[in-house]
Amino acid sequence: MVTESYKLSILPGDGIGPEVMKSALSVLETVGQEYNLSFQYDSYLVGGSSIDESGSPITDEVIAACKDSDAVLLGAVGGPKWDSLPQDQKPEKGLLQLREALELYSNLRPATIYPSLVDASSLKPEVIQGADIMVVRELTGGIYFGSPRGIDDNEGWNTLRYTRTEVERIAKTAFELARLRDGKVTSVHKANVLESSQFWKNVVADVHKTYSDVMLDEMYVDNAAMQLVRDPKQFDIIVTQNMFGDILSDITAMITGSLGMLPSASVGEKYALYEPVHGTAPEIAGQNIANPIAMIASVAMLLEITCKHSHAAQSVKTGIESVLASGYRTAEVAKIEDNILSTTEMTAKIIESMKIENKKVDETEFINA
Ligand code: IPM
Ligand code: MN
Repeated sequence: MVTESYKLSILPGDGIGPEVMKSALSVLETVGQEYNLSFQYDSYLVGGSSIDESGSPITDEVIAACKDSDAVLLGAVGGPKWDSLPQDQKPEKGLLQLREALELYSNLRPATIYPSLVDASSLKPEVIQGADIMVVRELTGGIYFGSPRGIDDNEGWNTLRYTRTEVERIAKTAFELARLRDGKVTSVHKANVLESSQFWKNVVADVHKTYSDVMLDEMYVDNAAMQLVRDPKQFDIIVTQNMFGDILSDITAMITGSLGMLPSASVGEKYALYEPVHGTAPEIAGQNIANPIAMIASVAMLLEITCKHSHAAQSVKTGIESVLASGYRTAEVAKIEDNILSTTEMTAKIIESMKIENKKVDETEFINA
């Protein structure tokens, strides 16, 4: 059997980033062994750790290395240590520069509700059971990148602008994905107030003309925030601008029970980056108690999207699901009666359960042969 080989750039970042990245790499190693895939990688600094080393949140060399890879895996960036730096020197700027340089305009943030975690959410079980939402967040435009921008003693200002090309391509991503899911897209905007949103609405409607098999619905962002906690099951895909997507995806995290559960994939025409939705959680960094599931599930997205290996991706997802079903939890989602695991213990359990599941599959194939 030929081994498929992938070259990855690993960017652990700050806070809990390096801890959850270790988990991701152990899972990748197991996946490699089980599925005859080979992952070669080098690790690089980004965010605060890069500022401490080189004075800049990301260097040109790191961006070049990422461009020379099949995919990038990133932990998280930021922390109180660097909060008082000027905006364009903050750790977050490193991630934003990378998203821009790699033109990762489509950010896919799936919110999967694991049946065994239904009562971990602050919402009622009957409200969230069966919900399955994908936030398609525009990632390289809008107010995050618009100029002019600035701050002085008397004011601070940003620019929210979208071009036709930017809206068209993210709308296409959403409609294409809808065809693989439940066939429904909700375009979220604020067209009752913002010109950029009226424009967004118009362009999404134009693109929809070539996707008449997909249902298009729309919602103002304030209403969407409320509807997400009122009745999340009404949504399939939410497509929205950069900042609304940032906010709404954190809301979907609470439907899944914890921000520590949410993976993401950022993709463009040429490159792909996988990272958890959560941040660096400085208050728990270094304690080996962070939930590695969002990072591990981001590896599953890498296997699915970059490696196009749905078997391998599924084995990671099944591994996560069966460990949760056995009642194991990291501290932030645990109830008193649960078995509370550290980051490394949770990772080991997931790997163990992936191996057991695979063995079962092998045996079934043997019996069926
Ligand atoms: C996210 C994060 C980032 C964002 C920060 C770290 C720049 O909150 O990926 O959701 O705002 O996009
Ligand atoms: Mn965010």
